[in-house]
Amino acid sequence: MSGSIDRNLAMELARTTEAAALSAARWMGRGDKIAADQAAVDGMRTMLASVQMDGVIVIGEGDKDEAPMLYIGEEVGTGDEPKVDIAVDPVEGTTLLANGMPNSIAVVAMSDRGSMFFAPGIVYMDKIAVGPEASHVIDLNESVAENLNRVAEAKRMPIHQLTVVVLQRPRHEKLIADIRATGARIKLIADGDVAGGLMTCTPGGGADVLMGVGGAPEAVITAAALKCIGGTIQCKLWPRDDNERRIAEEAGFEIDKVLTADDLVNSDNIFFSATGITDGEFLKGVRYTSQGATTQSLVMRSRSGTVRWIESIHELKKLAQYAAVPFD
Ligand code: FBP
Repeated sequence: MSGSIDRNLAMELARTTEAAALSAARWMGRGDKIAADQAAVDGMRTMLASVQMDGVIVIGEGDKDEAPMLYIGEEVGTGDEPKVDIAVDPVEGTTLLANGMPNSIAVVAMSDRGSMFFAPGIVYMDKIAVGPEASHVIDLNESVAENLNRVAEAKRMPIHQLTVVVLQRPRHEKLIADIRATGARIKLIADGDVAGGLMTCTPGGGADVLMGVGGAPEAVITAAALKCIGGTIQCKLWPRDDNERRIAEEAGFEIDKVLTADDLVNSDNIFFSATGITDGEFLKGVRYTSQGATTQSLVMRSRSGTVRWIESIHELKKLAQYAAVPFD
């Protein structure tokens, strides 16, 4: 890494996802996705500014025109070395949060400058993700049945004990039928396939495989997380129409190429932090107490392989006296 990341910046990143989660959590169940996301963006952006790095947002809230903050290309951090790419999703699962449903998380990932994949105009990718025991057997070019048989064998489990996480979408009708035909179990999720990918890799996460089409930015964030924790993801661009296909091809991308986790984040020094906003399978959400609030975060670094679960107690009255973010 130029001006190599020698320090473990994951702990500093944890402060940014905690800030996003604490800022967004008061919007839980209030039906206002935009206000919830804005609060998280404000909290995360304020904290990112204090991280000692020369960061550029590669995966963010969108183009500058549509996203006033944390837009793609925005420079973040103090401007000092190291030079890094940053992927943010201040609220992954905005609808989940707005409806008070499980598994909304605040997420940030960091890696060497120039290492994160970005295909302009591509909204979706087809994905398969698994935990460490099965990371060498999956192949997105193979059938659903072949992949699930391989995963079952690698995990030494009968196929009917496997759990496959799938976003509940009409586009997944055939995928769901194909999975059911193998006898595997299915966990349909309303939103949040970054959490879905992490469920395959975390103890008690409750899933073995993530399959299906979800957001392209989420694929890069999932790759960053799984490279830290030992699982893997494979993806293909999934253009919605001929226009998206043409834009991607003209930009030099091969539509049918299987992208590996290394293609999505081409770095061995990745930092990742996720903080629960609503309660979920692998992270507790923000809980309010008479003194303040508690958060739980998953904080990881790929180079060391260290995975930390951080439980934090936040005294909101004390924070209010000096924190740049209004956690009320
Ligand atoms: P947001 O938090 O941006 O709403 O994304 C939620 C999400 O479910 C992602 O986890 C997933 O990758 C994507 O949306 C799927 O997109 P769509 O809802 O259009 O199928």
